[in-house]
Amino acid sequence: MTNKDIKVLLTAKQIKKRVKLLAERISKDYKGRQLTVVPVLKGSILFFSDLLRQLKVDCEVDFLSVSSYKAAKSKGVVRLLMDLRESPEKKHILIVEDIVDTGLTLDYLIKNIKARRPLSVKTCVLLDKPVLRKTHVKVDYTGFKVPDEFVVGYGLDYKEKYRNLPFIGILKGITPRGDKNEG
Ligand code: IMP
Repeated sequence: MTNKDIKVLLTAKQIKKRVKLLAERISKDYKGRQLTVVPVLKGSILFFSDLLRQLKVDCEVDFLSVSSYKAAKSKGVVRLLMDLRESPEKKHILIVEDIVDTGLTLDYLIKNIKARRPLSVKTCVLLDKPVLRKTHVKVDYTGFKVPDEFVVGYGLDYKEKYRNLPFIGILKGITPRGDKNEG
């Protein structure tokens, strides 16, 4: 597959503008408090780094890694691959995710962190694909609502490719769950 197979959905400029707005909102909401930003590897890396550099509150960073998709196809099972290094107890946690689709990954992460007695847990998600939501999950800060298509770029991958694209695009010939279209 080449970049010709990708239809631009959100340009780098649109993303930049929206990330700035999200950072302003988060900075306002957490004013005077210490925040622990928790990006979920690997899809959120670009979103997280752009967001982080615009936050105007005291921040700590800790990472989490989960697998919920194999080669972009949902298995419906969430597995923690790498846990936080520090305990989230008595901290204000902001989970940063690339995309919420079924909601199973975020739901798992919220419950997992809440069980460890943080002061608060909120979620910041760049893309919301609401069509196939399987669980009610609260997203506190959302970048964009996207159609039920398989998207790549700006950290999001298909079989580990396309993460480096500066924009977000729809991968043609791939179903919203990451399978190849027939024909
Ligand atoms: P959920 O558990 O179904 O909400 O899926 C969340 C995870 O699935 C995200 O963190 C992504 O890694 C992956 N995912 C869902 N939709 C897409 C997509 O369109 N492109 C790339 N990854 C996706």
